[in-house]
Amino acid sequence: MSNIEQTLSIIKPDAVERNLEGEIKEMFKSNGFQILKEKKIQIEKSEAEKFYKVHETKPFYNDLCEYLSSGPIVVMVLQKENAVKGNRELMGATNPKDAEEGTIRKKYGISIDKNSVHGSDSVDNAKIEIDFFFKPEYKNRFDQISYEYRKKRRTHFKEKEAAQKANSERKKAIIEEIKNHIDKNQNILFWW
Ligand code: CMP
Repeated sequence: MSNIEQTLSIIKPDAVERNLEGEIKEMFKSNGFQILKEKKIQIEKSEAEKFYKVHETKPFYNDLCEYLSSGPIVVMVLQKENAVKGNRELMGATNPKDAEEGTIRKKYGISIDKNSVHGSDSVDNAKIEIDFFFKPEYKNRFDQISYEYRKKRRTHFKEKEAAQKANSERKKAIIEEIKNHIDKNQNILFWW
């Protein structure tokens, strides 16, 4: 009997920062996962505290929440037969140095904190975690943050475009200057 499940996966800030989003998604797909939903967002520390509430008594809780909210993340709903267990196997051990060859954390993880991905640890938690990020009632909470993130990105690209334009105008001016110089010095061309 088939046991199709859904689980929540997060590509954490260290992996997004290193542009590993595409490679990690490819690993999910080539291992039979369907990515049903996904969004790139940046969350507030207060949201990370809610998300990781189960760890609130742990000594690493504060750093963990600060880290998850430190940059953009990609949250995804993955689906496959026995997805929760399958995703945990594909991610590998929490600490990348203990993770097996071929797992995401072995391949991309930097440390126990910057371990590139998060995955739900049980079917019950998967439901809670999927709701946390994707429940329609909560949409505005993250849309606002996504909006801020998109705004920052747009500004970044606009600035980049303006710099490129200025650069190409400078190049055009230099070429023009060289042409004028050549026109004025036809004799030099003769000697070439
Ligand atoms: P994750 O699967 O997202 O769940 C909780 C995270 O806490 C875990 O990955 C680690 O990145 C982080 N963490 C930091 N220190 C520890 C630790 N000592 N034991 C377990 N998890 C830790």
